[in-house]
Amino acid sequence: MNPVRIKSAVTATLIFSLSMTLTAGPDEDRQQVERGRYLIATSGCNDCHTPGYPESGGKVPRSEWLTGNPVGFEGPWGTTYPSNLRIKMQGWTEQQWLEKARAPMRPPMPWFSLRDMKDDDLLAIYAFVRDMGPSGDATPAYVPPGQKVNTPYYEFMPKNLPVMQAANASR
Ligand code: HEC
Repeated sequence: MNPVRIKSAVTATLIFSLSMTLTAGPDEDRQQVERGRYLIATSGCNDCHTPGYPESGGKVPRSEWLTGNPVGFEGPWGTTYPSNLRIKMQGWTEQQWLEKARAPMRPPMPWFSLRDMKDDDLLAIYAFVRDMGPSGDATPAYVPPGQKVNTPYYEFMPKNLPVMQAANASR
């Protein structure tokens, strides 16, 4: 091949691979977002982070998913509110998200489930939440144990445990 031919062959290959990248990109992105939707729907995140989700058997429009819950969970750890992930996650890079998702959080957040997810799955969740965009209001701030709680909350304490029964019986 003469140099001109080689050059045009290289250019043609470059144009071909560039157009492949451009056409394959959006489809892969949609697949990633759809996988994130599937993981969120099946991993129980909406139970706490989407108001009305468990009560309605999951019949909450997707536009309202993960907007956070202003009803707190009160226990020995204080009172926590399932964060508005639609707002929070807009402010995090992929790397920050991976770090947050692997760090311990207060109860009743099942942070160990997030910790044990593969990077690919966490990144799909990230793609889905970012794709939905921000929505709703920030949730109330965490209240430490013993301080006054000004919002509605669930008491998250086991009752009637065998140990407690035994303690009551001995009174
Ligand atoms: C049983 C209720 C519950 C479930 C189920 C749950 N969360 Fe949470 N989540 C919480 C609570 C409560 C907090 C706030 C914890 C705190 O204040 O430290 C939280 C916090 C978080 C945070 C930290 C946000 C921040 O403000 O830094 C992330 C991220 C998160 N949850 C993601 C998820 C994902 C993803 C799922 C599904 C795999 C999920 N959660 C399932 C209750 C829950």
